Amino acid sequence: MAAKIIDGKAVAAKMREEARTRAAALEARGVRPCLAVVLAGEDPASLSYVAAKEKALAGAGMEGREFRLPAGVGEAELLGVINALNADETVHGILVQLPLPSHIREKAVISAMDPAKDVDGFHPVSVGNMVLGGKGFLPCTPHGVLVLLREEGIPTDGAHAVILGRSNIVGKPLAALLSRREVNATVTICHTGTRNPGLYTKEADIIIAAAGRPGLISAGMVKEGAAVIDVGVNRVADSSSKKGYRLLGDVDYGPVAEKAGWITPVPGGVGPMTVAMLLLNVVEAAENAANAVSGANTASGARAAAARHD
Ligand code: GUN
Repeated sequence: MAAKIIDGKAVAAKMREEARTRAAALEARGVRPCLAVVLAGEDPASLSYVAAKEKALAGAGMEGREFRLPAGVGEAELLGVINALNADETVHGILVQLPLPSHIREKAVISAMDPAKDVDGFHPVSVGNMVLGGKGFLPCTPHGVLVLLREEGIPTDGAHAVILGRSNIVGKPLAALLSRREVNATVTICHTGTRNPGLYTKEADIIIAAAGRPGLISAGMVKEGAAVIDVGVNRVADSSSKKGYRLLGDVDYGPVAEKAGWITPVPGGVGPMTVAMLLLNVVEAAENAANAVSGANTASGARAAAARHD
């Protein structure tokens, strides 16, 4: 059986359209949703991700305000930028592109953000709310994976989902989200300490590869009919390509596509979903801020606003 190829671009386009409609409604209220994008250094992959995010923001009628800092920027200076963005009412979301230069403590920077503006969902408060089922922004890539599964009608209730990779950005949050009651999957996480990942993936109804290792998932590791979601984005040197590299996922695409029930391509699978979910988070952050302001203009709104600041 050949797998159904999941068109991440098409699903993402639907989400981007929703973001655009909601942004236009805010614009009519005099609020233009704005994401501050902070980039330290010149990592080529980060530069291209940031460019893609800014293009998508513009396409959805939102502002992307870029803050470019040199690779040698001090941590205190970067924290100063975050504090200023926290205080700036025209900024609704803050995104600090990762990885940061190695002399900067990522945790300190992420924790300095106002969780109300943490549209990446990386702040400890956001992560806590995600795990506990509270309000807060969901991280974009894991949320995008969930939406892809839902939109493709891939059954998750009682399914065994095997995640490869335990990063803070993808593997760990995916495990929390997939095991939520409304998704109801049974989750296994494989990582570099797992002796034989194939033992687990062969049993999986859903495989999510997020390890950053090209070719990690071979056809022999996949059960017939399984859904295979490839989060890997690996730049592999290729002198025949204009860019000098090509993008490969973590999945041995051709052979696995012969066996799986569903598969996401790289590029064009999960990647576009990450950007689309970011747009939805930015518009939601702007809606929350606009509603807090308009609510504060009524008596009950003033009480609610005061309570929020207790
Ligand atoms: N680096 C790789 N993925 C991401 C992401 O989703 N957000 C940020 N801020 N940095 C990243």
